[in-house]
Amino acid sequence: MALYSEKVMDHFRNPRNVGQIEDADGIGEVGNAKCGDIMRMYLKIDENQVITDVKFNTFGCGSAIATSSMATELIKGKTVKEALELSNKAVVEALDGLPVHKLHCSVLAEQAVRAAVKDYYDRNGIAYDPEDFRDMDEEELHEHVGH
Ligand code: FES
Repeated sequence: MALYSEKVMDHFRNPRNVGQIEDADGIGEVGNAKCGDIMRMYLKIDENQVITDVKFNTFGCGSAIATSSMATELIKGKTVKEALELSNKAVVEALDGLPVHKLHCSVLAEQAVRAAVKDYYDRNGIAYDPEDFRDMDEEELHEHVGH
């Protein structure tokens, strides 16, 4: 069996929604301390809290590119609340899997989305449950993968 699914290769070769949004309503930047990869996510959000546009830049490995690309597709048109519920597991499933040692790359995508939503909340003075972002300050992202 190939190490990477066709979907992973497709999103790696032709990543969707690459770039940045100048007047973004929320920007999230996260990094993985171990591999040094960095991901930045830009969200455009309308008055109904629907994500109307999303772009990303990733300075990272192929799996980070593929997972962030898939994550942008999964949250476009969704509400910020729904975007917060996006788990790295859902991104990995949508890509038909990732090798175990690459799962942490998908965590970066999940965290970037959540960091961008948090930034949107902060900018607009929208109250949120800090518990939802409790793990955002932790440096060690690998622990979240779990399996
Ligand atoms: Fe760092 Fe993939 S190796 S995000």
